[in-house]
Amino acid sequence: MLTPAMIDRLNEQINLEIYSSHLYLQMSSWCAHKSLDGCAQFLSQHADEEMTHMRRLLNYLHETGALAIISSMEAPPHYFDSLQAMFEKIYAHEQFVTHKINDLVHLANTEPDYATLQFLQWYVAEQHQEEFLFKSILDKIALIGTEGQGLFFIDQEVAKLAASKGMAATSMEAAQP
Ligand code: FEO
Repeated sequence: MLTPAMIDRLNEQINLEIYSSHLYLQMSSWCAHKSLDGCAQFLSQHADEEMTHMRRLLNYLHETGALAIISSMEAPPHYFDSLQAMFEKIYAHEQFVTHKINDLVHLANTEPDYATLQFLQWYVAEQHQEEFLFKSILDKIALIGTEGQGLFFIDQEVAKLAASKGMAATSMEAAQP
């Protein structure tokens, strides 16, 4: 059974994952509007991924008999100065999410709530991967540069990431019994 403080914090995280999904969907639309189709596809996939993060938390609350509460939330930004500025915003956002997961782990450890502590290990590993992913995209942008045909080549690189994610998702679906 979860404490009221833990239920509140897990609900806060559920709403942060929904906001992350809205943010990436909005960014996907901005990219599509700029004819950056590879980035648009990658971010659309990532918006879906954030909803799977949300559902894991939602199901965990249900398993413990707690009520999940979906809140109203602010609209994400819909204008970005550049593709690089947009990915910098994503990297900062993921670092913020990691900070919130660390706070949750700290609460689970100090309460103590060992079941939630174990449940959160997946999120700790996932945040490490997400920070690595977006840092690697920023590194590629710095390497290729945004002058001339730079944006076109960056978009192609991000399209490859979208394709590999799509293939991984398809093989996971095929492996389902
Ligand atoms: Fe659900 Fe991108 O963290």
